[in-house]
Amino acid sequence: TGLVTLDPGFVNTASCRSEITYIDGDAGILRYRGYPIEQLAEHSTFLETSYLLIHGHLPSQAELDGFSTDLSRHTLLHEDLKNFFDGFPSNAHPMPVLSSAVSALSTFYEESLDPFDRRAVDQSTVRLMAKLPTIAAYAHKKTLGQPFLYPDNSLGLVENFLRMTFGFPAEPYEVDPALAKALDQLFILHADHEQNCSTSTVRMVGSGQANLYASVSAGIHALSGPLHGGANSAVLTMLDDILASGDDVDTFMERVKRKEKGVRLMGFGHRVYKNYDPRAAIVKKTADQVLAQLGVNDPRLDVALRLEEIALADDYFVERKLYPNVDFYTGLIYKAMGFPTRMFTVLFAIGRLPGWIAQWREMMEDPQTKIGRPRQVYVGEPERPYVAMGDR
Ligand code: CMC
Repeated sequence: TGLVTLDPGFVNTASCRSEITYIDGDAGILRYRGYPIEQLAEHSTFLETSYLLIHGHLPSQAELDGFSTDLSRHTLLHEDLKNFFDGFPSNAHPMPVLSSAVSALSTFYEESLDPFDRRAVDQSTVRLMAKLPTIAAYAHKKTLGQPFLYPDNSLGLVENFLRMTFGFPAEPYEVDPALAKALDQLFILHADHEQNCSTSTVRMVGSGQANLYASVSAGIHALSGPLHGGANSAVLTMLDDILASGDDVDTFMERVKRKEKGVRLMGFGHRVYKNYDPRAAIVKKTADQVLAQLGVNDPRLDVALRLEEIALADDYFVERKLYPNVDFYTGLIYKAMGFPTRMFTVLFAIGRLPGWIAQWREMMEDPQTKIGRPRQVYVGEPERPYVAMGDR
């Protein structure tokens, strides 16, 4: 069987070559297609960055306009797909609703699922990018028992999403441009992060030549876990718990350092970054701005700032090179914007979608691609004879 190397969690194993995202974890550097994340966050838009990730270059005006028009023509969900939402309990968590609806999309577009048909893949790309915000907004409305809003295609992706999430059919909804800009920027920061758990899942499922919807649906499930995208809601729950317990922040940190079961400083640490996560640095500034602009005085921000302050000066965290990651401050912004905690990871999914798509497409076009099939080190029983029922 040859020599296999055991590498739990793939800490030292590269699964592919990729031209999409570059991370230098020691230096705290992140680039999409060579462009520093700081510059994209400041100057680009989520739409443009999505195009960049998926197609490999910054779009010309005509390319960007074309992409935008394509997306705005595909925001509607098939009316039959809307019925899916009725099948879930009214308090259904929006993450499994999201991945179920994405999975179901493949049943509506069966004629265009061939992973090697370039036109079909372009179509699925546009459909996914256009429909995920609609599905996400419906998943939110469903939990509130409120009516769904049809997309308004005169609006951009983020504005449309905000309106479908917070608006009502009979009332005009004024999108706050500063909020839309902040959310757009957060989506840029989440848009790709090379071979993380959900992206590796998307590639793994796709490596068996499953279609793009199936692969992305699996990626959404992978993202939902608290060690991955689910950390953004776990951070808020942690801040709430600390406030509710009446304990001071130091007491909580002692529990973290004692490694009490299930107690971690959520939003801290990263497999690749052994330095400040460059996304967290941007998010922290955005949190300040958004909270100030909305006039929100959230006591959770003080707790978060204090946790960070303690961690950055504490041997436990310093020795292990644990810094705030992208999820540490995003929840405070989402909360201030009016999103319930259970929607936070859904927002992450909307942001990460172009990365999943770009990575899946790159894999399909790579002649080196093989089906993902790791080996194992067997540590079970050696051969033994079957024992009849009466002799056990
Ligand atoms: N709080 C306390 N201790 C921690 C933390 C934390 N957040 N993260 C890591 N450690 C400790 C861990 O106990 C271990 O200690 P020791 O060496 O004594 O056994 C050491 O640091 C290394 O941790 P690890 O679990 O082996 O590291 P990993 O690379 O396997 O895990 C991680 C990375 C992100 C899963 C982990 O840091 C973690 O659980 N963080 C909290 C959850 C979180 O914020 N996840 C979001 C990640 S960023 C974006 C995303 O994917 O959404």
